[in-house]
Amino acid sequence: METDILIIGSGIAGLTYALKCAPFARVTLITKKEKAESNTNYAQGGIAAVFSEDDSFDSHVRDTITAGDGLCNRAVVEEIVREAPRAIRELEKFGVQFSKDPRGALDLGREGGHSARRVVHASDLTGREVEEKLLARVAEQSSISILENHIAVDLVTTRKLARKEAGPNRCLGAYVLDKVSGQIQPLAARLTVLATGGAGKVYLYTSNPDIATGDGVAMAYRAGAEIANMEFIQFHPTCLYHPKAKNFLISEAVRGEGGVLRLMDGMPFMSRYHKDKDLAPRDIVARAIDSEMKMSGDPSVLLDITHRGKEFLTKRFPNIYEKCLQFGYDMARDPIPVVPAAHYMCGGVHAGIDGQTSIEALLAIGETACTGLHGANRLASNSLLEALVVAGKAAASTERTFGISASPHVPIPPWVTGHARDSDESVVVSHNWDEVRRFMWDYVGIVRTDKRLERARNRIQNLQREIQQYYWDFIVTPDLVELRNIATVAELIIRSASWRRESRGLHYNLDYPHRDDKNFLCDTILTMDHPTHEHSHPA
Ligand code: FAD
Ligand code: SIN
Repeated sequence: METDILIIGSGIAGLTYALKCAPFARVTLITKKEKAESNTNYAQGGIAAVFSEDDSFDSHVRDTITAGDGLCNRAVVEEIVREAPRAIRELEKFGVQFSKDPRGALDLGREGGHSARRVVHASDLTGREVEEKLLARVAEQSSISILENHIAVDLVTTRKLARKEAGPNRCLGAYVLDKVSGQIQPLAARLTVLATGGAGKVYLYTSNPDIATGDGVAMAYRAGAEIANMEFIQFHPTCLYHPKAKNFLISEAVRGEGGVLRLMDGMPFMSRYHKDKDLAPRDIVARAIDSEMKMSGDPSVLLDITHRGKEFLTKRFPNIYEKCLQFGYDMARDPIPVVPAAHYMCGGVHAGIDGQTSIEALLAIGETACTGLHGANRLASNSLLEALVVAGKAAASTERTFGISASPHVPIPPWVTGHARDSDESVVVSHNWDEVRRFMWDYVGIVRTDKRLERARNRIQNLQREIQQYYWDFIVTPDLVELRNIATVAELIIRSASWRRESRGLHYNLDYPHRDDKNFLCDTILTMDHPTHEHSHPA
């Protein structure tokens, strides 16, 4: 199989990029489950953009940089923030219907860390509305083919094929596993785009759906790309706490509309942690909840928005209201039990604002990329925005260069199974999955220490050996592909977190409780070639 552009992932980033490249290239988009299944599809709060007269680009830039705790790249922040209103209008042209206020203007929600109302939303189902409309537009394009249930196993690069030709490492496409036939085929492309989303599944508790196994980061790392800032994992403060609710988020917009966090005895506590109380930046709220739960021994805290009444809540949060009701909580009467959970990967494949990575003909866009927008902590509702704007810029840059400097196809050799046989011990895969996710939660979670990180390092080294062995001995399955990837991502998080001997943004280490600008005002970059860390440009 061959194509002009191979896109891996069908969330907001992959779909937007595909739509914009359709007029000038043949696009093949692969996605590992059904096409709508993505983090995008579950996004609730919305997309940050300056529309209000009381708001300004400067203010959105300032809030983003304050949340990022010293590591945002200002030029990237300014460009993305200024592009936001145009990107929203473009989504509307694609058919996305955002909620409107009684005057017919965009209804703007509020979330933590934002100093103004600026979150454009489609009630509390923003992601589903965006995903649905983008998929509908993609279906109209004859130059885009979507292959569902196809999982990328690994990228193919000139370096991996040990090509003798001079020149930098270049991506030639990917090996792709068809989950239905079980066959792995090479897919050669002139340009490959990682739009694989986040890695919440590296942790035991997460707001993310099952697809979020960090495949893009792991594949890019194995291919030799630079990976940045993996220690900055964002924990969302409020996921529904219920044994049967696998990963249901209670949007920050609920606090934006007046929701108050309380201890189980009803006492509010956020005023003890930050002047903005329940709307403090996410890292502070998540740590406050973690600390209160540890002190009280309670399994959750409560989120109380009962004072807003049923009429308002069913209109503003129909999805959350319905879901809570299914679990026995009427938001208009009952405070909801909530806990923090892994939510967003601020680091990722090191990329420019046009998606260019450190490997030629390989782009990374959306959550899998680290462009410098989020720094050490992402401001709420800036990620759908980043995915949209960066996908647009990447497509514009592809259009400018395609045909002139795009690489020709290079044939990729077939996948070799060798002596691999069917596994007779699938239990190893599920056991190792659980083990990684549990020790990452316990040792590399919201609050870290040197000792916990060292424990995690020891565990991951042993597991990596076992997984590698298993990978070579047995036929590759989707579960094994994902296990190998979450283990790689876990290792990258642990190594990055161990190197950063300070506390900043989402990385909080009790042994170094303060920010250390003298030594750590820089990104953390890891590559296969340089197993130690490098300082890149200070932001
Ligand atoms: P995704 O939407 O996650 O798409 C990734 C795609 O890649 C999927 O189709 C997946 O199947 C595919 N894929 C992955 N690996 C492979 C592989 N190996 N082979 C083939 N396909 C693969 N952000 C906001 O800005 N505002 C919000 O309100 C908001 N709410 C959120 C609520 C929830 C519950 C969650 C989980 C996240 C939320 N976020 C929000 C974050 C935001 O949704 C994501 O950062 C964003 O949607 C990522 O988009 P993406 O296109 O990069 O990746
Ligand atoms: C939410 O609705 O709370 C999620 C917003 C985000 O992650 O940006």
